[in-house]
Amino acid sequence: MIDHKTLNPRIDATVEKLNSLFGAAPEVAVVLGSGWAGAVSHVEDAQQLSYAELPAFPQPKVEGHVSEIVVGRIGAQRVVMLRGRAHTYESGDCTGMAGALRSLKRWGVKALLQTNASGSLRTHMPPGSLMLISDHINAPQRSPLVGEPGSERFVDMSSAYDVELRSLAKQIAKANNQIVGEGVYVWALGPQFETPAEIRMFAAWGADAVGMSTVPETILARHAGLRVMGLALMTNMAAGLSAEALTHALTLQQAQASGERAAAFLARVVAGLAELPSLRA
Ligand code: HPA
Repeated sequence: MIDHKTLNPRIDATVEKLNSLFGAAPEVAVVLGSGWAGAVSHVEDAQQLSYAELPAFPQPKVEGHVSEIVVGRIGAQRVVMLRGRAHTYESGDCTGMAGALRSLKRWGVKALLQTNASGSLRTHMPPGSLMLISDHINAPQRSPLVGEPGSERFVDMSSAYDVELRSLAKQIAKANNQIVGEGVYVWALGPQFETPAEIRMFAAWGADAVGMSTVPETILARHAGLRVMGLALMTNMAAGLSAEALTHALTLQQAQASGERAAAFLARVVAGLAELPSLRA
């Protein structure tokens, strides 16, 4: 549960720092999931800042693990990229990104582009495929908004993944001959991978991809009033759908193999957002 007494002053300090170092907020923030780190190489005039300097952000734990924001632009679109997210499987706490996302909103960010690595539930999306998230299933039924005061906590999730942002991403995919699927992402808590029986159940529920992130952040972002887009990179067929045993190494290997193409597509989408009047209103 979020402790507002301690989080709110940390958000104030974070927003102050972002304003003083970078000026007005970019309209667009990107959360980089596994496999997507290459996207930072597309950022021009990039300035880095460690999460350690941003008190509302998840504080870096593992030495050598990158936890930083990268502020700059891609084409005409200013952007802030978040390298590193707090996962619920690390602590059991699904509110880890609350301070970061609320700070971004207060700073003036309008849209959150989430990226992740996922297991595919559909043979037409083999490893290496990209999928725009059209909707999600919160399988653990955990909410970062438990304990939140006020009626805003009853967030409408009926179009959580922004239709206009998705349609722009589809146009950009088409113009660049990039095949991008569209489908439902199901959140599994992890850190263990799913069983084949769980995957069969998720497929019957209508899920197309499974992963251990994204959903808590989408809920927090919608509550904060940020528009959300989600892009999933398939790193493996989900449990039971291929002969191969699932390992973290396998998913990282596939993420690396397809990451560059995924990052290049993401960069095109970010650049394309400069043409969207609704982000400038
Ligand atoms: N399951 C859950 N999370 C994942 C997977 C998976 O198969 N692949 C990458 N992240």
